[in-house]
Formats: sequence, C-alpha cells, structure tokens
Amino acid sequence: MTQIFAHRGYSAAYAENTMSAFVAAQKAGADGIELDTQLTKDGEIVVIHDEKVDRTTGGNGFVKELTFKEIRKLNANKKGIRKEPIPALEEVLEWLKTNKLVCNIELKNGLFPYEGMEKKVIELIRKYDLANRIIISSFNHYSIVYSYQLAPEIETAPLFIEGIYMPWIYSQSIRAKGIHPKYSGISDSVIKMTMENGIAVRPYTVNRERDMSRLFQVNCTAFITDDPVKALRIRGEYEKGPQM
Ligand code: G3P
Ligand code: CA
Repeated sequence: MTQIFAHRGYSAAYAENTMSAFVAAQKAGADGIELDTQLTKDGEIVVIHDEKVDRTTGGNGFVKELTFKEIRKLNANKKGIRKEPIPALEEVLEWLKTNKLVCNIELKNGLFPYEGMEKKVIELIRKYDLANRIIISSFNHYSIVYSYQLAPEIETAPLFIEGIYMPWIYSQSIRAKGIHPKYSGISDSVIKMTMENGIAVRPYTVNRERDMSRLFQVNCTAFITDDPVKALRIRGEYEKGPQM
C-alpha cells in the first residue's frame, strides 16, 4: 500500500519543519516525514526550508550567515501561541530513534552548495544508526551522487519538477533507488514503469483528494503531503475496499 510522508511534518496543521509538526505526523499514523536542511555559519545542520529565516520566523537573514545559537533564538512557530525553535537535524534523528518512521532528508543545497553538508548529514545518520530509515533527496543531483559515493548504504532520490524521459534509466545511472517527482509531472504509466524497473516513486506535494486517489489506485510507492490525516482517511477507504 502506498506510504504517506508528511511534508515538512504535518504542515497543514502545524508550523512547518518543527518538532510539533513531526510529532503530530507520527501520532496521526504517517509512515514517514519529509524535512528540509540548511547549514548554519558555524556548521550545524538545521531543519528549515528557505535559505533565509525571514518567512518562517520573526527574524531575518541567511541561515549561512547566522550561528546555531542565533538561529535557536528564533521562533519557527511565529503564527502560533507557543514559541518553537528551528530544530537541529540531530534533534530530529534522536527523536526518530523513539519511533519507526521513515525520514526523507532533503538537502537544500541547490542555491548555495554548502560545502561539507553531505558529510555532516551522513555522519549524523550513522551516529544514530538510521541508514535503513533515511532517504536523502535533493534538486542538486551532483549532491545526490556525492551522497551515494560517501554512503552507498543510504538510499538517495533525485527531486524533479519537470517530467523526464524514462526516469528509471536516469535513476539507475546515478545509483538512486527512488525518484521524487512533482506529482503533476509524472503520468500513471511512467510511475508504473519506474516501479516495475525497481525504482521507488514518491511524488510531492500531493494535497488534493483526487490526486491522492490517483496515486493509491496506481499503488505508487509513497507520496509526500502536507496533510497526512486526509491522506490516511482516503487510504483507509481503499483498504476497506468497495462497500456493498
Ligand atoms: O521533497 C519534496 C518537496 O519538499 C520539494 O519541494 O520546495 O517543498 O522543498 P519543497
Ligand atoms: Ca522539501
């Protein structure tokens, strides 16, 4: 059955990329979470989507120009009542040891190459012995290949916006075991052929009921959604089968 990954945690109901959003996704029954990583000025891997802290916190500036101490003073839950820090990746991995979730770590190194980011992320994954529950993804496919070279035991998956021709061939050529395409850029037949060729397909970001249904129908490996509760409800209907 198609797995459900919570995009930036349960971000439809909680502040994105916060521990609250991850814990809520796990409590809801999601199979996995997706999160974004950037690198601070002093070399800490932090969980935040944008290169700048402005949109998601009350602060301003580039993550790469702020120290971890400065980052931790910011509020990643600026619309909420309770203040929440931007998580360190290490904090999320430590929490992952308490549950069975799969975690898709997206390296946000498309704009800034963040030298050393892959090594640091892999060191943390190995420290917590989580290689079999992590998927490293990125729009930066050079980084995907480099991650594979550093740690062939960790699954990698390139992210795509546009549909590419025979993605399983490309994926095999860079030794990635999965692809993470934009949901609207991949047809049912390409999903099926990719999976038949042994490559996992996890489209993003799937929030509409009809798009979720389509992916359950083709038995897609997984999809990434802001609303794991909605996805679980729809999957439940498929699991029950047709009502007489
Ligand atoms: O990993 C899938 C998706 O998160 C990629 O786009 O911008 O939401 O990080 P974005
Ligand atoms: Ca992401």
